[in-house]
Amino acid sequence: MLVHLNYQVDKEALRKAFFDRYDQGDWHRKGDNEVFGFWWKVFGIEELVAPITKDLGLDTLDNKPRFSYQLPQSTLDNHIDPYNAVGINFNLFDESAFINMNGVQHRYESALIDVGHRVHGVLNNTDSPRLVLKYAVYNQSWDEVYSMLDKRGLVNHEKTAKFNPSYKSYKSYIVEGDDIYIGHKINPTVKKEDRIQPTDMWKIDR
Ligand SMILES: [Fe+2]
Repeated sequence: MLVHLNYQVDKEALRKAFFDRYDQGDWHRKGDNEVFGFWWKVFGIEELVAPITKDLGLDTLDNKPRFSYQLPQSTLDNHIDPYNAVGINFNLFDESAFINMNGVQHRYESALIDVGHRVHGVLNNTDSPRLVLKYAVYNQSWDEVYSMLDKRGLVNHEKTAKFNPSYKSYKSYIVEGDDIYIGHKINPTVKKEDRIQPTDMWKIDR
């Protein structure tokens, strides 16, 4: 399930903040040796995004914000985020961000996404990278996070209903058999010693 939100972030300022901190990031990894050499993340941005965190009502909740940057022509395979996370994503480029879920490629600017219960992936078959500010919210149910955002007037009902007419009756759970998707599969597998280093080519700030 993906619910569109009304909240707008300062894309330009956040893009700049991301590229300023680029070198503090790292490839997504699973364990010690499995590295996803196409998905760069920068954590430790709590202070930077504190005003957004407060606006969203996440300041008293267990949440972890990060910049998430995925290279052009790369595929993050189908998976379910661990720890029952609920995701809140903000696109930071001019072109909408996208996520594949239930056979649909959703395009969004800001969205609440049930990444901890429903299978999803990011198929970037474009020549552009993808950059989002993502909050993973833990220890809260989808319904709790949805209600909190709705009370703050942040749910875009009209836009959400267009693609998900039954979104109000959505039940958040892991469908039987989908538990094999929890965590991230590796594609492609890059050994630690073969890690690709970031180059200026990828730092497309636009
Ligand atoms: Fe995910």
